[in-house]
Amino acid sequence: MAAGVQETADSETSAASSGWLVDPTVAYLNHGGFGALPAVVAAAAARIRLEIEADPTDLFTRQWQGRVDAVRDRVAQLLGAVRSDLVFVGNATTGTATVLNSVPLRDGDEILTTDHRYPAVANQAAALARRGVRLVEAPVPVDVSSVDAIVAAVLAGVTDRTRLLVVDHIASPTGLVFPVRELVAASHAAGVPVLIDAAHAPGQIDIDLGAIGADFWVGNLHKWVCSPRACAVLHVDPRWQEHISPLVTSHGYGGGFQPSFDRVATHDPTPLFAVPAALDFWRELGWDDVRRRQHTLATDGAHVVADRLGTRVAVADEFTAAMRLVQLPRPVTSEEAVSMGYRLTTEHKVTAYITHHQGSSYVRMCGQVYNAPEHYERLAAALALELG
Ligand SMILES: Cc1ncc(COP(=O)(O)O)c(C=O)c1O
Repeated sequence: MAAGVQETADSETSAASSGWLVDPTVAYLNHGGFGALPAVVAAAAARIRLEIEADPTDLFTRQWQGRVDAVRDRVAQLLGAVRSDLVFVGNATTGTATVLNSVPLRDGDEILTTDHRYPAVANQAAALARRGVRLVEAPVPVDVSSVDAIVAAVLAGVTDRTRLLVVDHIASPTGLVFPVRELVAASHAAGVPVLIDAAHAPGQIDIDLGAIGADFWVGNLHKWVCSPRACAVLHVDPRWQEHISPLVTSHGYGGGFQPSFDRVATHDPTPLFAVPAALDFWRELGWDDVRRRQHTLATDGAHVVADRLGTRVAVADEFTAAMRLVQLPRPVTSEEAVSMGYRLTTEHKVTAYITHHQGSSYVRMCGQVYNAPEHYERLAAALALELG
């Protein structure tokens, strides 16, 4: 790129990303990976840290329950949930592990998931193999074209030994938004409870947990709600609450569902206490408008990348939100993907996620309000050089 063109691109990038802490010289297209912080939320978190440090004893004793409950009220509102069904955990991984370690499972039982599942969830299920529990992965093609086809593909994996279905709300390797309401209904009709791994869902899509009706649902608040890392919310249907315990037994033990999670030893509550500031940030921008912008950025950008690579945008539009998938011209190995991802960031100044599904490789790109069309053009040019 000629120096003048680079300068223009950099100033466009700065304009789009001002107000965020992401490096304005990098086209950051991996918001879904670990989230990113708006400057106002970072400032709120800094103020909260000072408040905590002014009198930690007062904060962790007298103020504690009121502060946790105040965040819970805001999160319940966001998710269409009843506040008594919500507890907080450190991250989505802890949430899924909590459920998988609490649900009664024994030798010969099966956990059903899909081949879009997050690797940590597969590992957590694999760790249950020592109890004789088997993980079954139902294949769901990225180009599936109807809700019924998704439900049929997933439910095809149910047997008389299936004790739990673990399904993504929005899948990590593909960005596919699963029709969770229909999946829960079908799974319940088959007598199988459902855990939804919704790491990417809070903020990215509109959520009504009451309508979804899952037994368990866990979502990160540090990805698309943009509170600092790390905090997550676990929703447990009332009929399961007496069976679900935190991974670490601590002060609230024996006091019931919420007390057992509300008082788990000492940890930094700053990310959790900053959630209301993050929600205020988005409310001011307007969720509907933000989600439209995110989807448009990612979708238009994906078409730019696919056109440049001579490939295609995968996953039908109706099953996507702010993360889009473009097929690479050839499959790359996991090692190649890691080294290419590193070169994208360090040499081409663009960060995106290379993923794999059913033998093909893809680049996943996110749309966030700090992104600009130029970011996707930069990704397209970089991938054309890398794979040309
Ligand atoms: C679907 C899914 N589940 C779980 C996780 C794990 O999230 P965390 O590392 O915050 O626990 C991720 C992270 O990207 C994810 O995409």
